[in-house]
Amino acid sequence: MKLIEMIDVSRSFGEGELKIDALKKTNIAIEAGEFVAVIGPSGSGKSTFLTITGGLQTPSSGKVLINGKPFSEVNEKKRAKLRFEEIGFILQASNLVPFLTVQDQLHLANKVAKSKVDKHKRDELLKELGILELKDKFPSDLSGGQRQRVAIARALYHDPSVILADEPTASLDTQKAFEVVEILARETKMKNKATIMVTHDERLIDYCDKVFVMKDGILSERIGG
Ligand SMILES: Nc1ncnc2c1ncn2[C@@H]1O[C@H](COP(=O)(O)OP(=O)(O)OP(=O)(O)O)[C@@H](O)[C@H]1O
Ligand SMILES: [Mg+2]
Repeated sequence: MKLIEMIDVSRSFGEGELKIDALKKTNIAIEAGEFVAVIGPSGSGKSTFLTITGGLQTPSSGKVLINGKPFSEVNEKKRAKLRFEEIGFILQASNLVPFLTVQDQLHLANKVAKSKVDKHKRDELLKELGILELKDKFPSDLSGGQRQRVAIARALYHDPSVILADEPTASLDTQKAFEVVEILARETKMKNKATIMVTHDERLIDYCDKVFVMKDGILSERIGG
């Protein structure tokens, strides 16, 4: 089953001589259970690709389907709903809410969905990520790497079908980086999600089923080694 599909998607910024084609015409399909890496130089279009996939910005042309549902063409209200239900984001700057404790960052999803807090799942995730003892702390009391792990826990907590991660290991040491990628790989396989991870770290791509390279806005699959 295709969880993510892009059909003739492109994105440009500006006009005339200043026009930047950040993402050139892209077609891609990612199946349930697939863990995909996107690598490529700075400014090549990786974050643009990821945020369009997640509906944080709309494409200049083409369309995005998430779990078979048209995503890029619906109005902002519908898109926000779909985004909440289907997508877990781990963004380059871990965007935590400054006035909420670690556990409340997760509970926010319950508030939005009007559902009950799943204490077992919450603590399991926080434990796996090595941040259980931090659950009553505020973001300002945490290191960059700890904040990043909270962002990961929050993304996984409401069980999205699609996980989009932009440099999720950027502020972690090697050991923790491997652990985090293992968690992402495991979630993807066990729960049949589709996961896209943008990374600079080539050591992490061994965990991925496919590797795509972004260069000057062109995404192509890297075949073999
Ligand atoms: N909102 C915007 N307005 C104008 N130009 C933009 C905008 N967002 C991105 N760009 C441009 O699009 C290109 C791709 O940017 P993008 O952020 O996707 O790169 P990236 O591969 O994620 O880079 P990095 O590895 O540094 O995060 C760059 O030339 C960037 O300057
Ligand atoms: Mg980026």
